Amino acid sequence: MNVEFYERIWMWAAAGLLLLFLGAIFVTVGVQAIQPPSHIETVDPTALPTHPEFGTPAVRTRADGSVVVSVVAQMFSFSPDPIEVPANRPVTFRLTSADVIHGFEVVGTNANAMAIPGYVSQFTVTFKEPGEYLIGCNEYCGTMHHNMVGKLIVKKAAP
Ligand code: CUA
Repeated sequence: MNVEFYERIWMWAAAGLLLLFLGAIFVTVGVQAIQPPSHIETVDPTALPTHPEFGTPAVRTRADGSVVVSVVAQMFSFSPDPIEVPANRPVTFRLTSADVIHGFEVVGTNANAMAIPGYVSQFTVTFKEPGEYLIGCNEYCGTMHHNMVGKLIVKKAAP
């Protein structure tokens, strides 16, 4: 027994702890798909009205049949509203905000992201159940936050 022996034990113990904690992060990322939000794409929040995409927030269909929904959140509404998308097809939401941070949650689904001024939040979901869904803002954004809702209509896709 000497001092170096104890030092080695502590070094390995510290390294082991680091691996354990890092491992916990990678396991949750891989297994539970818990990830940092979206990609990093910026947009000038003061120039949204003249922006080629967010100047006219809308639902657009790509050539391959997939759907892109460009959404602008602002106090205290979402546009477009309602949002109409087909069922059983990948729908990519692209969100941004014209003023403060808002939430965008399609209640009862896993479609949920923040709309952040200056950034574009993007995620893709496929809605299996046709119907009407409530969209709620889940970030406190001002006095009428509780009234900030929208509607998502999932339509049965044509065969
Ligand atoms: Cu927008 Cu709360």
